[in-house]
Amino acid sequence: MLLHWSMAILIISLLGFGKFTASLDETSATYVSFIQLHKSFGITVLLLAVLRIVWRMAHTPPATPVDGPVWQRLAASVTHGLLYLLMFALPITGWVMVSASPLNIDTVLFGVIPWPHLPVLPTLDSRESVAHLFHTLHEQSGHILIAMLLLHIGAALKHHLIDRDGVLLRMAPDWQSRAWRAKFIGSVAGVFAIAAVLVGYKWNDRQAAIVAAGNAEVSFIADITSAATPGVFADANVSALIDIADPAQSQLEATVVTASVTSTDSGVDGSIRDADWFDIENHPEAQFVSSLIEPTDDPQILQVNGILSIKGIDLEVQFPLAIESGDDERFATGEFIVDRRAFQLGDESQPDDTWVGYDVTIKFRFPLSE
Ligand code: HEM
Ligand code: HEM
Repeated sequence: MLLHWSMAILIISLLGFGKFTASLDETSATYVSFIQLHKSFGITVLLLAVLRIVWRMAHTPPATPVDGPVWQRLAASVTHGLLYLLMFALPITGWVMVSASPLNIDTVLFGVIPWPHLPVLPTLDSRESVAHLFHTLHEQSGHILIAMLLLHIGAALKHHLIDRDGVLLRMAPDWQSRAWRAKFIGSVAGVFAIAAVLVGYKWNDRQAAIVAAGNAEVSFIADITSAATPGVFADANVSALIDIADPAQSQLEATVVTASVTSTDSGVDGSIRDADWFDIENHPEAQFVSSLIEPTDDPQILQVNGILSIKGIDLEVQFPLAIESGDDERFATGEFIVDRRAFQLGDESQPDDTWVGYDVTIKFRFPLSE
């Protein structure tokens, strides 16, 4: 009963939460942190499902209190069987999806316990189509689960309200029994103890976290007629939480106003806001959102993975972020190279690299505060 009801709450919440999260913008930081939470509770369901099967195999449930027609008992067994199957199918299809996904976002349960990707999948050439297939299976299993639950809950209510037999009530905890109360209080205390340990762990880690919010310097260097030509985005904003002790907890989001671009080269400055380049009218902002920040051998350098969107085109990028200490201030700096063709920059006017090189270096720098 304890497993049935705790899992029922978790699973029904995950169905709603999953749908809601899937409707969010994939490049937003909210999406990334909601998915982490969805995965954490989803894996919890998987672990509880294993426990439940083991428990069920060792315990025969009490005989049905009513002698309904054979078809009803058959329908109940089939529905229960499918519900058991789906308790595994949902988390496993989810796990396969994220393991195969080219986005390669690690799973860290409740921000504390690293959970591995399934083997082999991340190395497949066809990982994108495997991830896509399992996304569809995850979604469709969710739909089948909803249909099964409507039958299941409908049947439970029919027994209770129309037949007025004991089927629903026998699934209700027996508060009169001391043994039951002890089990219930023990389990709730256990869950709180685990939560307290996790929160305590995270709280401790907070000490090492540093934040940044506000202006960032974002500039670029393009190769124009073989001369390195710099440009600057005067209006760039960053919001970051950098946790050196536990880099996986870090997040970085940056927004650049494309219209604020200027270049020292007057030829570049004249056309760079046009539709063929940054297309400032249709795409007033370019954005970067981190998906995972990892440690490197050097404690002052973190490896940042995330999605860069320019002109509505999303591309995965990776770059090292260095933490530099000045006299009384600390800065985060870094640079990386992108191929301008990936963002359709200059596709029409400069399709080849005779005048403007394909590789563009993007640089950033922003102050950090405790
Ligand atoms: C409001 C929601 C729910 C209600 C009212 C409900 C009610 C019940 C009741 C009354 C029984 C006992 C049937 C009997 O005595 O033979 C039962 C069993 C069962 N329920 Fe639910 N349930 C709910 C949600 C769920 C969910 C979300 C799942 C899992 C996805 C689930 C899976 C099962 C399974 C597998 C059994 C069979 C247990 C066994 O005999 O091995 N239930 N449920
Ligand atoms: C009982 C457990 C679970 C339930 C009931 C559940 C349910 C759902 C539902 C209903 C959606 C929305 C699907 C859509 O409309 O696109 C969803 C999305 C998702 N689930 Fe789960 N899930 C579970 C476990 C997991 C696990 C264990 C993982 C990974 C380890 C996972 C990863 C995901 C991901 C990445 C998405 C987002 C896909 C997108 O962005 O469209 N889920 N889940």
